[in-house]
Amino acid sequence: MAEALRVGIAGLGTVGASVARVLDEKAAELTRQCGRDIVVTAVSARDPKRDRGVDLSTAKWFDDAVQMAERADVDVFVELIGGDEGPARASVKAALEAGRHVVTANKALLAKHGVQLAEIAEKKGVLLNYEAAVAGGIPVIKTMREAMAGNQVTRVFGILNGTCNYILTRMEAEGISFDACLKDAQRLGYAEADPTFDIEGHDTAHKLSILTSLAFGTRIAANDIYMEGISNITQADIRAAAELGYRIKLLGVAQRTDSGIEQRVHPTMVPTASVIAQVHGVTNAVAIETDILGELLLSGPGAGGNATASAVVGDIADIAKSRPGFQHGPVFGWPAKELKPYKKAQMRSHAGGYFIRLTVHDRIGVFAAIAKRMADNDISLESIVQQAAGPETEAQKTVILVTHETTEAAVRKAVEGVTKDGHLTDKPQVIRIERAE
Ligand SMILES: NC(=O)c1ccc[n+]([C@@H]2O[C@H](COP(=O)([O-])OP(=O)(O)OC[C@H]3O[C@@H](n4cnc5c(N)ncnc54)[C@H](OP(=O)(O)O)[C@@H]3O)[C@@H](O)[C@H]2O)c1
Repeated sequence: MAEALRVGIAGLGTVGASVARVLDEKAAELTRQCGRDIVVTAVSARDPKRDRGVDLSTAKWFDDAVQMAERADVDVFVELIGGDEGPARASVKAALEAGRHVVTANKALLAKHGVQLAEIAEKKGVLLNYEAAVAGGIPVIKTMREAMAGNQVTRVFGILNGTCNYILTRMEAEGISFDACLKDAQRLGYAEADPTFDIEGHDTAHKLSILTSLAFGTRIAANDIYMEGISNITQADIRAAAELGYRIKLLGVAQRTDSGIEQRVHPTMVPTASVIAQVHGVTNAVAIETDILGELLLSGPGAGGNATASAVVGDIADIAKSRPGFQHGPVFGWPAKELKPYKKAQMRSHAGGYFIRLTVHDRIGVFAAIAKRMADNDISLESIVQQAAGPETEAQKTVILVTHETTEAAVRKAVEGVTKDGHLTDKPQVIRIERAE
């Protein structure tokens, strides 16, 4: 049997401790599958005294993850510390430069420094595996990198943040407010004490930036992503969506268009009957649309110790199965040096259907004025409905518009016009509608 694969794990928190436990509990199966033992020989975290729920007494302890990364007696460096700078970046870089394979779950690091790290890995002929960085346990990186050769991706989109999907699912199912759902999510451990990163779309954007690079062979450009979170979604939107045959999801979407590549994260209305609309709670899903395959949808657990450990252990097993001298495929599907500069399509040129909800003074002529602003901007309406805004607001009405395909620029201009006309009593709400099977 080949020599054991020696693994060093940096970070023994939710994911790191789960990885150590799975490697221990599944040791016999992994040996049979990989043709060699996988042994944790080194570990690093902040607190050497903390009980990690798994016996790590035979592994050498390192206070400094960088020192561990450089050790010649570690074949695979597993980074599960987190963060886009500091010890995570320094240790991954050190491991790759020392010719060690690296496995990481760190989307923030890859979104910021992925291309540079991929260049080092490819130069050194080692693997940089990151299945757990996007959609946790769902094997989307493998699918896109290995199983779709020859396919040209036209669009990739998904529910990439479990916290947001949990909140939107409960808002719809129970009719409760965003704030109440968020508090519950925090109490149940589905949302961080500071939830901004999740609910305002940053986490989705990091993951989307990695998928975009894999899909289109472009350099990662996370800072360029158009981003809107879910904190201004109200019960009025959820109810109106349901009446119109839609469900609201926070989607990350990357799409090839005539003017470049669109990357956007925002609340989105998807048809209630579509497959992605059936993805509830903390579950994640990724849809990939290609010229040969059509649309593929993968869904499953996007976070949590076990699900994430499943992806990390899969990445380690791939390294255990690879043979010395074997030429590894490029990290992002295309050689890092050949990843094209990303050509950004402006959000203003985005084309699609729109849901617009306006709260207006209950006055004669308002309805006609709104319809005129739409027509002046060449917006064709699928429907326009006027409703009472609620018993406590007799002097107001709600007007709900659904447009046929139009552009973001036209919608912004029309809504600006309606606002200038002085008919609105509240901020206008605009939600993009996404085509989905
Ligand atoms: N949690 C999930 O469901 C999930 C899903 C997908 C991806 N990820 C990614 O996985 C990574 C880890 O997440 P997590 O949830 O496991 O985080 P976590 O529970 O906060 O664990 C972080 C670990 O890093 C250790 N650490 C901190 N500073 C260190 C340093 N300077 N040197 C060595 N170790 C250090 C901590 O040590 P102490 O324990 O001693 O404090 C802790 O064990 C992140 O990149 C995250 O984005 C997480």
